[in-house]
Amino acid sequence: MPPSIEAQQLTKRYGQFTALSGLDLNIHGTKCVGFLGPNGAGKTTTMKILTGLIRASKGTALINGVDVASDKKTALASCATLIETPEIYPSLTPKEALSMLCEIRGVPRQDRNKRIDDALARVKMSEWADKKVGGFSKGMKQRVNVASTLLSDPEVIILDEPSSGLDPRGMSEVRDIVMSLRDRLVFMSSHLLAEVTEVCQEVALIDHGKLLVYDTIENVTAKFSGGGGAVEVGFAGNVDEQLRARVSKLPGVTSTTKSNDRHLLLKYDTAVLTQDKLLESVAGLKAGAITFSQASGLEDAYLSLIKETL
Ligand SMILES: Nc1ncnc2c1ncn2[C@@H]1O[C@H](COP(=O)(O)OP(=O)(O)O)[C@@H](O)[C@H]1O
Ligand SMILES: [Mg+2]
Repeated sequence: MPPSIEAQQLTKRYGQFTALSGLDLNIHGTKCVGFLGPNGAGKTTTMKILTGLIRASKGTALINGVDVASDKKTALASCATLIETPEIYPSLTPKEALSMLCEIRGVPRQDRNKRIDDALARVKMSEWADKKVGGFSKGMKQRVNVASTLLSDPEVIILDEPSSGLDPRGMSEVRDIVMSLRDRLVFMSSHLLAEVTEVCQEVALIDHGKLLVYDTIENVTAKFSGGGGAVEVGFAGNVDEQLRARVSKLPGVTSTTKSNDRHLLLKYDTAVLTQDKLLESVAGLKAGAITFSQASGLEDAYLSLIKETL
């Protein structure tokens, strides 16, 4: 059996800029694989090449052993994607929106109703099937978007940051759905470590267009979480370079990385500092720190692997 998803030396250049640089990846089996990396790392670029939305400058992308660039239709027959999905037209109901997609994708007419009902049931939106999308929360809209990927009953599902822009409740709904899809191969990008830890069995880590590691979460954690302590600090406002620099200068802090707009992951030297002292000194900056939590093993590994990329 060929790998479900395969990248061979994938490279993408935009003019002089290399967004993706010789990426090799082979993913087999049914499971959820997290594709993790900071903003701008090359996640969307990789997924767009894998699904034929853009072409690689060099290298080959294959789905179930079929080259996406030379035979897109066959390659993507059993693959569904959610990448930069436009908003569903607000006056449509989920049923109407999904019917249109069935039409566009050539789902046989006699299968459509069952496919739509099954997909909506899978994302727990059956009771909303005939209500207008305009009144839905972002999370509900995203559940309908995920349902749209299930219409063709795909073996491979590629999701680009499926929970981005959702509130915590929406995120947890999307997480539950993704977990229920692990009887297929789900390849999901995220910049949220907690999400990937919860949902995925394996993780591929990318930074500056290069794949740093692809392995089970346990192995990545065991191999790369170095010594010392790691915590994540949440701020009331966005973290800018100035704030990051101030935190970096605190005694005992050995590295800082933005995990998202409002969170900094920091490592500290446990020989110099205890966690409570670190909390005191972060609070002492009076920089709007509002949460403080011990980082997981994966976060620690991420910090060791991803150098500062703010
Ligand atoms: N169409 C484009 N033209 C020029 N640069 C681009 C284009 N698309 C993406 N990039 C750049 O390529 C890099 C990788 O982008 P992307 O794959 O979207 O990252 P990610 O999804 O990991 O945040 C970024 O630096 C981005 O600015
Ligand atoms: Mg992206």
